[in-house]
Amino acid sequence: MVERTALVTGANRGIGLAIASGLLDAGLEVFIAARDRSAAAEAARPLGARHVQLDVRDPDSITAAVQACGDVDVLVNNAGVLRSGRLLDNPTGFAESLAVMVEGPYRLIRAVAPGMAVRGYGRIVNVSSGWGSFAEGIGGPSGYGVAKAALNALTVAVAQELPGTVLVNAMCPGWVRTRMGGAGATRSPQQGADTAVWLSTLPEGGPSGSFFRDRRPIPW
Ligand SMILES: NC(=O)c1ccc[n+]([C@@H]2O[C@H](COP(=O)([O-])OP(=O)(O)OC[C@H]3O[C@@H](n4cnc5c(N)ncnc54)[C@H](OP(=O)(O)O)[C@@H]3O)[C@@H](O)[C@H]2O)c1
Repeated sequence: MVERTALVTGANRGIGLAIASGLLDAGLEVFIAARDRSAAAEAARPLGARHVQLDVRDPDSITAAVQACGDVDVLVNNAGVLRSGRLLDNPTGFAESLAVMVEGPYRLIRAVAPGMAVRGYGRIVNVSSGWGSFAEGIGGPSGYGVAKAALNALTVAVAQELPGTVLVNAMCPGWVRTRMGGAGATRSPQQGADTAVWLSTLPEGGPSGSFFRDRRPIPW
């Protein structure tokens, strides 16, 4: 069996760490990517994962991280920020939301998708949110919902451009107990990670260009 290599962004804690752990359990080689190199190393050590420094806002860091990983078969764009305040009152939060949750994923996809297409295998999972769904009303503070809606649009557009061997999907983890979700959230990081792990390991001919929660399609 071919060993697949996965790169998970923002994987030093929260849902990203749980996705990395789930992918290791599924038999993949996993790179835990974090903007702080020592945080990446610390998270990777107990799991037996590999690690790499990657700030999704920094194009040079993206290039270096992708080079360090070699052939990336599975990309999970998980890194995210949730800034406070009203959208129109917080232009800095808006810009940061777009940089981390749209531009970073776009650059990462550009860096890994050509290799996936050539090798005839790829899985790209964009960790989105119900707050990025028009059907669910575009919610959340600052630029969060707008950025996740743009990430959803990126998912559809990229899925259309890539060959059918590269499956590209978005998912909502639900409300999860992490630093972002808070202690009162209803789901564990493992529950939040489940659909992302499933999408990362889809068999040939699986769905592409869709949005999922709990392994089921949800409306954009
Ligand atoms: N928790 C929820 O209820 C919920 C619901 C819906 C969607 N989501 C989505 O799930 C994903 C993971 O969220 P979470 O709940 O696990 O949040 P979290 O615990 O706050 O973790 C966020 C992760 O993103 C990383 N990150 C932030 N900016 C980054 C950057 N510029 N470069 C690289 N990494 C960066 C953080 O790294 P540092 O440790 O360095 O800050 C951290 O590893 C996010 O995309 C979020 O929007 C979460």
